[in-house]
Amino acid sequence: MKCLKSKAEANHDNHQETHSLNPFFISTPIYYVNAKPHLGHAYTTIVADSINRFHKLRKCPTFFLTGTDEHGDKIVEAASRNNQHPADYVNRISTLFRETWPWLEVEPDRFIRTTDPEHVRCVQTVLQKVYDRGDIYFGEYGGHYCYGCERFYTEKELQEGLCPDHLEKPAFIQEKNYFFRMTKYLEPLRKHIMDNPDFIKPERYRNEVLGMLGDELNDLCISRPKSRLSWGIDLPFDPGFVTYVWFDALINYISALDWPEGPDFRTYWKGAHHLVAKDILKPHAVFWPTMLMAAGIPLYSGLRVHGYWTIKETKMSKSLGNVVEPLSMKDKYGASAFRYFLLREMQFGLDASFSEEALVGRLNADLANDLGNLTNRVLAMTNKYFNGVVPEMGTPGPPDQEVINAGLDAFGDYVCLFGDFDFAKALSRLWIFVSHLNRHVDQSAPWVLFKEGHTRQLQTVIYVLLEGLRKIAVHLWPVMPSDSQKMLKQLGVIFDPKTADLVQERCSWSGLEPGTMVAEKSNLFPRVELNLEESEPKDKPRSGDDHGQKEIGFEDFQKLRIVTGRIISAVQVDNADKLYCLSVDIGENNPRQIVAGLAQYFSPQELQGREVVVLANLAPKKIRGVISQGMVLAVRQGGKMSLLRAEPGAEPGKRIS
Ligand code: MSP
Repeated sequence: MKCLKSKAEANHDNHQETHSLNPFFISTPIYYVNAKPHLGHAYTTIVADSINRFHKLRKCPTFFLTGTDEHGDKIVEAASRNNQHPADYVNRISTLFRETWPWLEVEPDRFIRTTDPEHVRCVQTVLQKVYDRGDIYFGEYGGHYCYGCERFYTEKELQEGLCPDHLEKPAFIQEKNYFFRMTKYLEPLRKHIMDNPDFIKPERYRNEVLGMLGDELNDLCISRPKSRLSWGIDLPFDPGFVTYVWFDALINYISALDWPEGPDFRTYWKGAHHLVAKDILKPHAVFWPTMLMAAGIPLYSGLRVHGYWTIKETKMSKSLGNVVEPLSMKDKYGASAFRYFLLREMQFGLDASFSEEALVGRLNADLANDLGNLTNRVLAMTNKYFNGVVPEMGTPGPPDQEVINAGLDAFGDYVCLFGDFDFAKALSRLWIFVSHLNRHVDQSAPWVLFKEGHTRQLQTVIYVLLEGLRKIAVHLWPVMPSDSQKMLKQLGVIFDPKTADLVQERCSWSGLEPGTMVAEKSNLFPRVELNLEESEPKDKPRSGDDHGQKEIGFEDFQKLRIVTGRIISAVQVDNADKLYCLSVDIGENNPRQIVAGLAQYFSPQELQGREVVVLANLAPKKIRGVISQGMVLAVRQGGKMSLLRAEPGAEPGKRIS
């Protein structure tokens, strides 16, 4: 740890002198709305949230951006699969993304959508600017186009004639289009990457990009004729074409900051960091910086690239049925613990394999055994020896001083590693200190000090342990916001991220106020059991205050969109006696398709025109091969089913609260 220490110390000085007020901007990719949020999206977004919170604790002004990418072929296809107009479809899935993040303790400053009118205007302004500079031209192109990737492939890039990603034969398309003169900026980009080793990290991806720049790259086709695709942003200089999705999507990073004049752009752009997985390295490392150069906008500061989560070494995919739903993990283990696992398990930059066995193993080892036990033991001793009151610290003896020094070193290393996106090492470093504190309990044997009446020494040992725990909890706030806050509360601290300061934490061992009352015990990190069958492990209360009674908070209830509706028609689902496929007007542009088990109770004619109550934001689900987009609420009593409804004559789409 020697070299880390000196690096950490250099960093520490930098924080104080120059870095502490540098603005920090972090973005995630904006996610396609052709699928629901899954583990991969959750990981990137949780990392972005954690690094954002970390910079808040370094006292930097921060801005965290995420959102959804809503134009292009893929989206049109997904909308038509769901029998929805693209506009309705994107509204629905985008809402799903936006509403997922708070459950995972993710708090972005801005959620952007590429269908936002300000974004559309911004894209057109950039296009016009680049066009006026002569860097966009009209030409003819024939190429192998993969609809899945929404891009042309060169012969060389294809694998045995197939798209390397989708393993499908691309379509050969010959058409007139607009091109961005990307090749003009490739050499300046190469030079920028060579001169700025931190521009693309980790190193392997920087090398990969330098390799790409060594290959023959062509100008970028940036339009699609409207005859082929109309769901996009019009080119301002030719309304017969829409913008290629990547030229539209990448610009979100500046449109969200109200480029060119917005105060957020002026404040945050200089600290811009983009976080992506390796799948979209090229658009971010080549297209985007060359676009910025052509538009005369300074380049972002850093691109940080992580690997892929696989499921037991297999690609996650809907058809394999192995897609991990982040909200179900949060329901089983709590958001904080899930976040801890993701950051601790994946070496940033490399692929990692996800399994619930590994998750449970980590939670039990790191959180329950190491940190949870330690917290419990120290709280119990504080209660036993000092009636739960934090004692004054006397003069530390050599073993206490050794713990203090080890702690300050560990926190310094942690800050340095975390700031470098090396989350797994940062957390592992912190846990070396957790083990050190556990050893200190055993070696200093407070029960002996108590028995022998060495009160002053006992006070010091307990204070050193409590303060160590407090510092650990503060440093864990970026990773596990709610559990860190609960732990601090148990230590008698009311945590305020606005006043907390990681730099100050390295300057003293005296944050905890003597005289403060601590909790009697800590139940924060109980052991969990692996139970793949049940949706919830037995011995851990769900996040929130579930305690077996399934109470939900007010905010949980507010998330339900329950609205009035009117059934337009009911048709029996093929090969399913009990199911109807209902078409229900809930005041949207198009009726909802809802599969309901009502066929035993009502004839289609009885249902037609019936007023009902619908849970409208239930995630769509395929039932017997038919997509169901909501739920009609009903009560079954004896052999009878009654449909809930509001006052007769209520207009469809009225929210029920
Ligand atoms: N819409 C584009 C991005 C435009 S950004 C200007 C897009 N969207 S996406 O929905 O496909 O999201 C890709 C991103 O989702 C990845 O870069 C990564 O952040 C995340 N992940 C998706 N699957 C993943 C894994 N299996 N593992 C880790 N992250 C993954 O591309």
